[in-house]
Amino acid sequence: MERRRFGSTNREVAVIGQGTWNIDSGDEAFAIAALRRGLDLGMTHIDTAEMYGDAEEIIAKAIVGRRDEVFLVSKVLPQNASRSGTIAACERSLARLKTDRLDSYLLHWRGQYPLEDTFAAFEQLRREGKILSWGVSNFDVPDLEEAGDIVGEGRLVCNQVLYHLEERAIEHAVLPWCEKHDVAVVAYSPFGHGSFPSSRTPGGRVLQEIANAHNATPRQVALRFLVRRPSLFAIPKASRPEHAAENAGAGDLRLTKAELARIDEAFPLGPRPSELPTL
Ligand SMILES: NC(=O)c1ccc[n+]([C@@H]2O[C@H](COP(=O)([O-])OP(=O)(O)OC[C@H]3O[C@@H](n4cnc5c(N)ncnc54)[C@H](OP(=O)(O)O)[C@@H]3O)[C@@H](O)[C@H]2O)c1
Repeated sequence: MERRRFGSTNREVAVIGQGTWNIDSGDEAFAIAALRRGLDLGMTHIDTAEMYGDAEEIIAKAIVGRRDEVFLVSKVLPQNASRSGTIAACERSLARLKTDRLDSYLLHWRGQYPLEDTFAAFEQLRREGKILSWGVSNFDVPDLEEAGDIVGEGRLVCNQVLYHLEERAIEHAVLPWCEKHDVAVVAYSPFGHGSFPSSRTPGGRVLQEIANAHNATPRQVALRFLVRRPSLFAIPKASRPEHAAENAGAGDLRLTKAELARIDEAFPLGPRPSELPTL
């Protein structure tokens, strides 16, 4: 599994990690087995959130005895992200995860509380060793600019955003901003939250042909495309061990420039939102 530096931290993090939204909706033993299979194969970046029902408790069971292997990320809900609310939410997540620290703690999306308050709480948690770094999620460039103005360079380590082959909008401005400021970009819903391109579509056929050339699968090719730049990470969710194993296979796949260009053409970036016609 390839690892790379995670934003401005000095941590090397697996390029392919594991999402856990809805991991509590099926068989728990299966979900734990999937997470452990993923860990065995190097997918040690585990993403969760206080919003994800029982996911944090399931992760606690999956990582028992192997906490030090894991880069563990959770998120505070915006409605809890006041200064004291963020501290309390983090304490609850730590208790559910049965750990003494998070490797990174994120604001799930921007809400009513001033960023100053949430970030002051993050800094307090960091000084106390309860979180080792912090970041944001679903931030567009104006939000990132505001965050940068509040905390300066080097504090905000990641922005977790929607990014898959059919939704590449972050490439217009969010990705360049993050790269300029050494902020890791973590692709969530990398399979489109379950709507992966079918092999009967032209794009799906391109993925299949490239996969065939590498003895790989279309999903592995897609994941590899999504982490093709040094700032990028992806966190597919799998509640089946065989899915976790397939996803981990993307961690060592290498695509040629020509293959990346074919995927780029098959799943075009699309216009900037400001260039879309108004109705
Ligand atoms: N920050 C945010 O606002 C935000 C928003 C959305 C998601 N996220 C994070 O990103 C993670 C991933 O996104 P997501 O859960 O929305 O969707 P996703 O990872 O794009 O897709 C998950 C779906 O793909 C299936 N799948 C996974 N690997 C597969 C494989 N190898 N073969 C066939 N099917 C496979 C899963 O099935 P099985 O479960 O049956 O294996 C599940 O149905 C989340 O779990 C969460 O941690 C963050």
